[in-house]
Amino acid sequence: MTIFTNKSEIQDHISKKKAKGITFGFVPTMGALHNGHLSLVEKALQENDVCVVSVFVNPTQFDNDQDLKKYPRTLKSDVALLETVSKTILVYAPSVEDIYQGNTKAESFNFDGLEFEMEGKFRKGHFDGVGTIVKKLFEIVTPNNAYFGEKDFQQLAIIKKLAQKYNLPVKVNGCEIFREENGLAYSSRNTRLKPDYIKAAPFIFKTLKAAKEKFGTKSAKQVTEWVEKQFAENKFLELEYFNIAEVTTLKTVKRKSKLKTYRAFVAAYADDIRLIDNIALN
Ligand code: PAJ
Repeated sequence: MTIFTNKSEIQDHISKKKAKGITFGFVPTMGALHNGHLSLVEKALQENDVCVVSVFVNPTQFDNDQDLKKYPRTLKSDVALLETVSKTILVYAPSVEDIYQGNTKAESFNFDGLEFEMEGKFRKGHFDGVGTIVKKLFEIVTPNNAYFGEKDFQQLAIIKKLAQKYNLPVKVNGCEIFREENGLAYSSRNTRLKPDYIKAAPFIFKTLKAAKEKFGTKSAKQVTEWVEKQFAENKFLELEYFNIAEVTTLKTVKRKSKLKTYRAFVAAYADDIRLIDNIALN
């Protein structure tokens, strides 16, 4: 396994290979890798000659210092896990200095309003931080393809917008949410759940599936009220938001149209751990 920690070394390596026509698939991560991340890596390996995985806990996308401090940093076991998939993967695990060079600040972006919906309302500046790091990483890695999970559907939409607005020469690919057997979406945060909350967390996907079923015959408002009631009756999970939105604008649906595609989105707290999930509705 080759691990780069230095921007110019990986740039040099990749540009030589690209000159020979070798294609690169890129999976940006913040580490604490799990099967959800690996599903992206597997897709990148299938569709490209080489897969690059970045492991970087990006300070500019955290709106909460404690969250940044507590974020797990497990490079050794991340590399071991990646090795179980393929030893040919290139890992880029830079320092904050290598990326930001003394100026650890987010750029300010206009994502045509996508950034103000859902996560944008509850995590101020988050998407400026995500846009900043992903743009920098794309410039360093220059991938042909990049892979992002639908688990963070809003992030995926924003990265597609970023690539389009800046004319970045990369194809942004969305990948399905990878779930545990009980339906809980894999997340680096799941390992921090206490036993009672581990038991309670699959309720999130169960409720999303029921909401999908109801959306066939009921209005978005009726479904939303029903979901809010289910969470109000659950003593382990505290709902932050449930939202049914149109997939291109991410705006809350007011009147259903057969011609549009919708998704339901949830953010909920299990104790102090914030979990998000979503589901396609039609
Ligand atoms: P991170 O949370 O580590 O996630 C890295 C990628 O893995 C994201 O594209 C995310 O959507 C995907 N992912 C996470 N859990 C998944 C699951 N259960 N199924 C499918 N995909 C899943 O997202 C970030 O890091 C950062 O914001 C980043 C894009 C790296 C920028 O710092």
